[in-house]
Amino acid sequence: MALRQIRIMGDEKLEKVCRPVTEMTPKLRQLVQDMLDTMYDANGVGLAAPQVGILKRIVVIDIGDGPIVLVNPEIIEQSGEQSGQEGCLSLPGQAGIVTRPNHVKVRAFDENMQEFELEGEELLARAICHECDHLEGIMYVRYVEGELFDVTEEEEAEEEAAESK
Ligand code: NI
Repeated sequence: MALRQIRIMGDEKLEKVCRPVTEMTPKLRQLVQDMLDTMYDANGVGLAAPQVGILKRIVVIDIGDGPIVLVNPEIIEQSGEQSGQEGCLSLPGQAGIVTRPNHVKVRAFDENMQEFELEGEELLARAICHECDHLEGIMYVRYVEGELFDVTEEEEAEEEAAESK
């Protein structure tokens, strides 16, 4: 298991537009695995390559249903609306209220460069939107309604417990 350092908001890599992946190389496969390890280690539900300093269009997500790898993701449909709390591993201990589509369809390639489509609702839709934004150099704070607020690890644990019910 190899963990990578997560960049914190203010790091210039988080403000850059990422380049598409043209070919899955051993180095990029290792990056995908390291991103998953790093996300799980940090108890996150998603991580984008620029958050570990790599400006490639790669995202990993796991909302509790298993790992999802999105290479060159493109949101092709979105509908509905959800408003809720959102945080980011690049801004630890903080959260804010963000309105996102409640349903999205994304087209992407997997780690074998096979094209697929994925539909997500609620938390998965939110995670897909949040991570795709990272590939455009956008942090969720741009969309926060009102002020950011502090979340303690205790509160996060309580929310996780509530969500799992
Ligand atoms: Ni994030």
